[in-house]
Amino acid sequence: MTTVTDAPVVIAVDDVSKRFVIRKEKSLKERIVNFRRSSQHKADFWALDHVGFEIVSGTTIGLLGANGSGKSTLLKVIGGIIRPSSGQVLRRGRVAALLELGAGFHPDLTGRENVFLNAAILGLSRDETEAKFDEIVEFSEISEFIDSQVKFYSSGMYVRLAFAIAVHVDPDILLVDEVLAVGDEQFQKKCMDKIAEFQRDGRTIVFVSHSADQVESLCDRAVVLSHGKLVYDGDTGGAIEALRASF
Ligand SMILES: Nc1ncnc2c1ncn2[C@@H]1O[C@H](COP(=O)(O)OP(=O)(O)OP(=O)(O)O)[C@@H](O)[C@H]1O
Ligand SMILES: [Mg+2]
Repeated sequence: MTTVTDAPVVIAVDDVSKRFVIRKEKSLKERIVNFRRSSQHKADFWALDHVGFEIVSGTTIGLLGANGSGKSTLLKVIGGIIRPSSGQVLRRGRVAALLELGAGFHPDLTGRENVFLNAAILGLSRDETEAKFDEIVEFSEISEFIDSQVKFYSSGMYVRLAFAIAVHVDPDILLVDEVLAVGDEQFQKKCMDKIAEFQRDGRTIVFVSHSADQVESLCDRAVVLSHGKLVYDGDTGGAIEALRASF
């Protein structure tokens, strides 16, 4: 859907491809026989294949696609967490990302230490983080565990803290992978309310979800990936049809 709008482009994904090298594990015998010919055990895999689209400020855009279609990879490329093999991404403004479980936190550090680490990565000073710390912990509702190492956190606790950080660093662009699904119903509701507040503020949101209902109710527009290729870009109704056709 091309909406006529004066809003500036805040994310431009320009002909982005991402190659991963897949190493096929062979038996020890095969490895010895093929010694020095190990390239035969590697294969290129294109997780993103010439993907291009633009997002204007204030849009909530859904990223849809089957498992392994490249959604999380695209989100990480947009967030600048991984670099594309070719093509480029232009970003305007502060980006906060809620990525797959495990990404972004250091397991041996406590929740408190991870708050400071993450906020620093997102560009906040120590004083700014101090000022927001109580609010972050209050939003996460895990104050009891804030001084425990995050490796002992449950998945839900983890996402609670990660989401609380992401939304309290005043991002212009919020990237959300489907991890919100591991939060309990009450916390998911709280996250959705926060996302609605961000929409009212005119912030830009990129939202990966497997829930057609959620995408339909939340997003202005959606992009569908299939085997690393962009196969649809437009209104959410059409996206859900394109998604079903892609399986
Ligand atoms: N670091 C990596 N090294 C090798 N292959 C990778 C790497 N990261 C992702 N891939 C591969 O890229 C493809 C796309 O993965 P990605 O995580 O982006 O999919 P996805 O659309 O988010 O899937 P899901 O719905 O299961 O979360 C997969 O085949 C995956 O195995
Ligand atoms: Mg994923």
